[in-house]
Amino acid sequence: MPPKLNIRPFQAADRAAVIALWQACDLTRPWNDPDSDIAFCMSKPDSTILVGEQDGKIVASVMTGHDGHRGWLYYLAVEPSIQKSGFGRAMVAAAEAWLQARGVPKVMLMVRPENERVRAFYDALGYTEEPRVIFSRRLDGK
Ligand SMILES: CC(C)(COP(=O)(O)OP(=O)(O)OC[C@H]1O[C@@H](n2cnc3c(N)ncnc32)[C@H](O)[C@@H]1OP(=O)(O)O)[C@@H](O)C(=O)NCCC(=O)NCCS
Repeated sequence: MPPKLNIRPFQAADRAAVIALWQACDLTRPWNDPDSDIAFCMSKPDSTILVGEQDGKIVASVMTGHDGHRGWLYYLAVEPSIQKSGFGRAMVAAAEAWLQARGVPKVMLMVRPENERVRAFYDALGYTEEPRVIFSRRLDGK
């Protein structure tokens, strides 16, 4: 049986470990500063980061929150050496429970087109692909 995962809210001392995890899972991009993403998320009441810990080490994460209509998942990550042990599923379930506790009726997420392999994971969790096109515009002048 794989070691248990202790899922809890992010704390300030987790910052470096969480960013290292996101880098190991290839989730960081030059246009998204992880420090600012963490600070912004954790400063608002409608969003949070949950971390998964094993023996005091951060091995999983998920950012979640809602916009008053839908819930969203971001930065879902499981340390590469322990993937396929059920921890990704556990992190998504924890984020869903966080959203459900706040009355959010539907959860959504975006998958980058090059991340083909993650589709099977979301399929296994009962997520369905919705044919939508996403438009965006930066509001921060970057
Ligand atoms: C996506 C990710 C979080 C999945 O975590 P994980 O711990 O490996 O997933 P789990 O072990 O909980 O898998 C849950 C189910 O998905 C399936 N699954 C997971 N990865 C899969 C893959 N690459 N191909 C096929 N099925 C997969 C598992 O077989 C399992 O199905 P089962 O319960 O019916 O056996 C992990 O692969 C990861 O961190 N990837 C890099 C970062 C990333 O892409 N994040 C998502 C951005 S949208």
